[in-house]
Amino acid sequence: MNILIVGSGGREHAICESVRRSDKAQKIYCAPGNAGIASIAECVPIGAMEFEKLADFAKEHNVDLTIVGMDDPLVGGIVDVFESRNLKVFGPSKKAAILEGSKAFSKDLMKKYNIPTAAYEVFENAQEAIEYLKDAKMPVVLKADGLALGKGVLICNTYEEAKDGVKQIMEDKKFGTAGSRMVIEEFMTGREVSVLSYCDGKHIKIMPSSQDHKRALNGDKGLNTGGMGTFSPSPFYTDEVDKICKEKIYQATVDAMRSEGREFKGIIFFGLMITKEGPKVLEYNARFGDPEAQVVLPRMKTDIIDVCLACIDGSLDKIDIEFEDNAAVCVVLASDGYPVKYDKGFEITGLDKFDSNDGYYCFHAGTKFDANGKIVTNGGRVLGVTAKGNDLKDARNNAYKATAWVDFSNKYMRDDIGKAIDEA
Ligand code: AMP
Ligand code: GLY
Repeated sequence: MNILIVGSGGREHAICESVRRSDKAQKIYCAPGNAGIASIAECVPIGAMEFEKLADFAKEHNVDLTIVGMDDPLVGGIVDVFESRNLKVFGPSKKAAILEGSKAFSKDLMKKYNIPTAAYEVFENAQEAIEYLKDAKMPVVLKADGLALGKGVLICNTYEEAKDGVKQIMEDKKFGTAGSRMVIEEFMTGREVSVLSYCDGKHIKIMPSSQDHKRALNGDKGLNTGGMGTFSPSPFYTDEVDKICKEKIYQATVDAMRSEGREFKGIIFFGLMITKEGPKVLEYNARFGDPEAQVVLPRMKTDIIDVCLACIDGSLDKIDIEFEDNAAVCVVLASDGYPVKYDKGFEITGLDKFDSNDGYYCFHAGTKFDANGKIVTNGGRVLGVTAKGNDLKDARNNAYKATAWVDFSNKYMRDDIGKAIDEA
């Protein structure tokens, strides 16, 4: 089969790597891709939001299956465009991707179907939101309604801070049009866990848990980023938590979407908070996590193409999805200064030392070829170094060992990815 992957980050590199391992894959394309993806796939210079051009490409090159990695095109309706042209595509329709695209929608869905989540209110007017905050318990969480690159969430400790936050979201439109509506939510405490799942509209199959480190600095301090590293599985995702999630969250979400006439096919990413009262949903995403995919996909034994086709055909209940009984850790190598200000264009050395047959991967996030054909840094997050191990500690040691194999001028990483496992 000829496969097209849409996206250009570490997640898409991990998807390409899984597709490469499939016996079914013949020609692999990625649009737009990056310098690392280019070692697996032919990179096609079409942007992820250029739906018609992508569909033209898929037709012209006999693409049998397209896998969409990113949220923006999914929420924008890429799947509907492909399906209207009879092209097979893995991902939710626009109607279903709203699960990620609107926080107000997802909160209302959870309330209606009794799926555990933080208490909340939705506002379309800044004055009413500010009025509500006067009696609200602090800290409080403010969320812009739409997609905001994972940055549309403000945690406020005082009324003054929250009032200012409402102004930033709704009046200054700090997160763009995402801020025409907002959710004000109860602050929850506990461990965060990410659970990715495959869905075929009716059935759901859960992948092993993982955890992201979103803050830029050691000790989960500093600014929020796209993710500085991940580990899988999470020792905080116990059998007891799994049982409750299976009873109250996973199938309940798939059934709720179906009842709403928004059958969900693709990946549902459950962002969970394990609170004292049990697991609750922090957020839904409609795609693989980045960098969660970089620790979950390398552990998947089942052919990813078979799984995607089963999701599309509605036959997910007919296949077993197997994962290795080991662990993986991903340490992100970033440009110093990320996520605020950083230089790029530095040559990267040592990339040839990684061999996936040995359980080591170097997923590219922000890289490109320079005019001389050398691979250089081209973003805040540059590489995701993933290593497997027999257990989490082994995987962490391996991943940190491998971070020394690659180098570039302003290389920055956290030293404590996966340290939380010592507390488990
Ligand atoms: P979200 O984009 O909704 O996942 O929010 C981003 C991050 O904000 C989450 O990963 C949490 O760390 C934090 N967060 C979001 N909602 C809450 C909440 N209700 N209570 C505590 N932290 C939250
Ligand atoms: N790592 C969090 C996300 O992909 O949204």
